[in-house]
Amino acid sequence: MKVFARIAAGALAMTIAAGAAQAQMVIKFSHVVADNTPKGQAALKFKELAEKKLPGKVTVQVFPSSQLFGDAKELEALLLGDVQFIAPSLSKFDRYTKKLQLFDLPFLFEDVDAVDHFQSGTQGKALLESMKGRGLLGLAYWHNGMKQLSTNKDKLQRPEDVKGLKFRIQASDVLEAQFRQLGANPQKMAFAEVYQALQTGVVDGQENTWSNIYSQKFFEVQKTIAETNHGVIDYMVVTNAKWWDSLPADVKKGLSEAMAEATAYGNKIANDINEGDKKRIADAGKAKIQKLTKDDVAAWRKAMEPVWKKFEGDIGRDLIDAALKSNK
Ligand code: LMR
Repeated sequence: MKVFARIAAGALAMTIAAGAAQAQMVIKFSHVVADNTPKGQAALKFKELAEKKLPGKVTVQVFPSSQLFGDAKELEALLLGDVQFIAPSLSKFDRYTKKLQLFDLPFLFEDVDAVDHFQSGTQGKALLESMKGRGLLGLAYWHNGMKQLSTNKDKLQRPEDVKGLKFRIQASDVLEAQFRQLGANPQKMAFAEVYQALQTGVVDGQENTWSNIYSQKFFEVQKTIAETNHGVIDYMVVTNAKWWDSLPADVKKGLSEAMAEATAYGNKIANDINEGDKKRIADAGKAKIQKLTKDDVAAWRKAMEPVWKKFEGDIGRDLIDAALKSNK
């Protein structure tokens, strides 16, 4: 009852504009990355479009960089009605569904186009609704990009180069298994804490997209970034299913349209942002970007491969096969 009351309060977080009879709904969108990233840009576009489509009816407040809620609290806050939209990486839903672990399997998707192809198909779309029973409704997939591996060591080319090193990982059991498989020590940690952990040597390395490595300045506190492209960081925009169902039809329509358009916009610019950030990192000359040969990549792939078997049961072979078919 208490939870429901808070959701209702969130939904009805309305402010009466002075002198006007119109009630404005205040909608909060919280995320953990910087504004100048694919997710940051898509969230701002969503705000712009939603306010344009629903003038005087909604105000969207975007809180980037874990300002409102960080990784540890954002899903709980959404369920409590303290925030209406979040877009966690697909690696962060372990507690709500095992199916999304699919996206963390190393070397499953060749590139973001393949990820997009899978997400647009029947199985990908169905996953958006897979957590409804837990109160979460997925509205869209937002792209970031492929993951690269970085450490504070000079040598980072072959899997044996990470043996015994400590790596920060997102809260995902698949990623934990991936680093254990390499003989490294994974540590689950909120995104907002990573820079300091790298800087102080609490961990030796991490895996992330170019845009996150750049916008969080990880490249300033790492020596080598290997271009492994071994996995993907992508997002699901989720809302509170009960709140969404309670919206007036015109507001739901406007928000749905704004979400669809913001998604198309963000997903179109994601690759350019990552490529631009890769170049900015190279130009800064602080961390070395280690190119890998085909043979190197094959060695990484082989070293991480046993992870698949471990999670196949939970994820389902049907999903893995559909994902594999998305590669060209
Ligand atoms: C991370 O925790 O490294 C990423 O999921 C952050 C993000 O939202 O891109």
